[in-house]
Amino acid sequence: MKDKVVVITGANSGIGKAAALRFATEGYHVVMACRNMEISEAVQRQIKTESNNPHVDLMKIDVSSFESIRAFYSAYINKYPHLDILIHNAAYLNHGEKEYKLSPEHIEISFATNAFGPMLMTQLLADHLERSLDPRVLAACTTNIKNFFDPKRKIDFDNLRGEYQGTRRYSSYKMYGDSKMALLLLTFKMAEQFKSRGIKVNALQINRIRLSKETMRKLSPLWKGLAWLQNLTNPSPAGMAENYYHICTSDEFSQETGCLINHKREIVQPSISEKGFEQLKNIFGSSTYPQYATDRQTIEKIWSMGEELIRRNN
Ligand SMILES: NC(=O)c1ccc[n+]([C@@H]2O[C@H](COP(=O)([O-])OP(=O)(O)OC[C@H]3O[C@@H](n4cnc5c(N)ncnc54)[C@H](OP(=O)(O)O)[C@@H]3O)[C@@H](O)[C@H]2O)c1
Repeated sequence: MKDKVVVITGANSGIGKAAALRFATEGYHVVMACRNMEISEAVQRQIKTESNNPHVDLMKIDVSSFESIRAFYSAYINKYPHLDILIHNAAYLNHGEKEYKLSPEHIEISFATNAFGPMLMTQLLADHLERSLDPRVLAACTTNIKNFFDPKRKIDFDNLRGEYQGTRRYSSYKMYGDSKMALLLLTFKMAEQFKSRGIKVNALQINRIRLSKETMRKLSPLWKGLAWLQNLTNPSPAGMAENYYHICTSDEFSQETGCLINHKREIVQPSISEKGFEQLKNIFGSSTYPQYATDRQTIEKIWSMGEELIRRNN
């Protein structure tokens, strides 16, 4: 497997780290795409030792920055002739953050990191993915998108470039959910775009996973306390990393593209109804996603916004 290359963003903690270890243990050539090299070097050493696999590379990337993604891409194509698996695992969610923040290219930071960054990265690497016999892309989505079962919930398209910075109430949690919905819409669109090139693009609906100690360290005391309580019952990242591995390598998913897959590895379907008993099943179950994600106009809107931002910042 050492000729099979997998790139995992944010592979220095949590599910990304567990996935890097899983792939490395199976003998894959793993590229940890991370932003903090000091922390990540220690993790890279640990993964090499635990997996007994020397082919664990570490490359710098800040997924919130188009410039950094382009620098990563140049470095990657200089080093590797192809790419087999690309996992968009890194994400921005600063629990309790009330301040609206912008990326280097002046895009709201959650959208830059969780949606438009993965879009640019996939587009740039598409030629390299196409050289693989079985190229697969997986994006880490979340059950937070269930908030879109509420018919009033919409992506705030008018506030993704700082338009209302400091004047409209900012909720990092809402922006996180919106950006992950955007990631799902972009996943659907990229699956269509890359189908003829054999590149499969899917998303995984992650429910709840124990937060890593690295992530806990970033939290304010209040959120740290809440996360500590949740961590008592939340499962370890290893199980979700196993889902990454299965979706990206198994025969079961070799032909699937444009799907949202849940933590039980079932393909999630668009909801039939968002009223009454059906709505209760939507909210408490994990087998349906909001009709909002099927809206053609919304898919095209987020796609063209991403294209415009990428073009403008080239
Ligand atoms: N944990 C859960 O319960 C849960 C639930 C639903 C969905 N998810 C999703 O699952 C994925 C992994 O979650 P996790 O809990 O394992 O996360 P985590 O432990 O907090 O790890 C997130 C990783 O992303 C990296 N990252 C953040 N911003 C980045 C950027 N701009 N450029 C490069 N790397 C960046 C972080 O790097 P630094 O160390 O440098 O910050 C870290 O390595 C995320 O996409 C998350 O949204 C998680």
